[in-house]
Amino acid sequence: MLDNTLPLLTRGYAWLPDLSRRTGPGPVRTRLLGKPVIALRGPAAVPFFYDENHVRRRTALPEPVLSTLFGKGAVHTLDGEEHRRRKALFMSHLKDAARITALAQRVTDEWERARKEWADRPQVTLFDEVSVLITRAVYAWAGVPLAEHPDDESRRTAGDLVAMVDGFATAGPRHWQARAARRRQEERLARLIEEIRSADRDPAAQDGPPSVVEAVAAHREADGRLLDPRTAAVELLNVLRPTVAVTWYTVFGAHALHRHPELRKRLAGEGEGYARAFAHEVRRFYPFAPFVAGLAPADLDWQGEPIKEGTLVLLDLYGQNHDPGLWDAPYTFDPERFTGREPGRDELVPQGGGDAAEGHRCPGEDVTLAVLTALLPRLARLDYHVPEQDLRIPLHRMPTRPRSGFVMTDVR
Ligand code: HEM
Repeated sequence: MLDNTLPLLTRGYAWLPDLSRRTGPGPVRTRLLGKPVIALRGPAAVPFFYDENHVRRRTALPEPVLSTLFGKGAVHTLDGEEHRRRKALFMSHLKDAARITALAQRVTDEWERARKEWADRPQVTLFDEVSVLITRAVYAWAGVPLAEHPDDESRRTAGDLVAMVDGFATAGPRHWQARAARRRQEERLARLIEEIRSADRDPAAQDGPPSVVEAVAAHREADGRLLDPRTAAVELLNVLRPTVAVTWYTVFGAHALHRHPELRKRLAGEGEGYARAFAHEVRRFYPFAPFVAGLAPADLDWQGEPIKEGTLVLLDLYGQNHDPGLWDAPYTFDPERFTGREPGRDELVPQGGGDAAEGHRCPGEDVTLAVLTALLPRLARLDYHVPEQDLRIPLHRMPTRPRSGFVMTDVR
């Protein structure tokens, strides 16, 4: 079997679906980075994949992904008790309804502020603007200061956070920018963690629950030790960076509205229920995380298919979200599939599956939905013109987005 690392890098989101079409029903088998690979999908495969006896994360992620997207020593790379303890740090902040509402309010305020400025400009690129306004909101919410000339620093910081996501799956200049961005931001945040620790504030004297940055600074591992400052910075970035990554979905939402103008009125006026259905469909339909991966720690059996120890097991997220066996007309954008119902736990998997507290499922889904349900109806209510531009979303680029970044003129 040929090694498929190069086809993955060149074909992107089309790589697994193409292989699957060629090999027929059943899991896809191939090789990546010299390792045998099996790719699974479907609601029955999700609990199998998230069972730690079947898939381990330590050493599964290649160095170029860690040095850009996630950071070394990140929660993504832990297993067992070590993982659950670190994960609890994220869950306590990211699943708290009052904190999520507060973040959504900050995002809304930043949108309203930015929207007024857009009216004075000949044109704006939605991707760039949304990345900056989410950066400003999430930094303030997490208790991470941005310097006094806020526009400059929030733009530079947003650029770094976007670069880390944008450059993880390529070998070109985008990759080197991503590494430099991560180095810069880790150094800065590690210094901040040290400052917070050395200030030695009395927690009892504090007027409110700890912010994200304070919680990360105070977090202790099972052996009682604080995280070293660099790892603390990595985990702080694991809240800041993916919140800013909701920019991708916001711009995909703009793309969907442009392609389906008939949905605009309902999204603008109907309230939270329809906005949530729309957000789910954006997460299902548009390509973002292609798959998740781990290593089989022993010889396994998946529905009669043998999986040898050391095999790289993939859960095909993009494939499952477009599986015709699960979704009617999967390549049609239709929020109606989610009106009046929430998707099943292991049905819609753009941010992983299973139980977030127990396994590696993304702890940021509530945050993602809160930001999208705040921004997408506001986008639908905004008056703007979409000039001629390249709105294609290339499937070979990972992560992808409308090529132009979604340029708008006459914004009101
Ligand atoms: C832009 C939308 C987002 C997408 C597409 C996304 C996607 C994902 C995926 C696919 C995983 C891996 C699941 C697995 O390994 O099984 C993940 C994990 C994670 N995400 Fe998200 N995510 C998003 C937003 C967020 C947000 C807003 C936050 C935090 C505020 C967040 C924090 C994390 C963390 C900390 C993990 C690691 C969890 C673990 O290893 O236990 N994500 N995300």
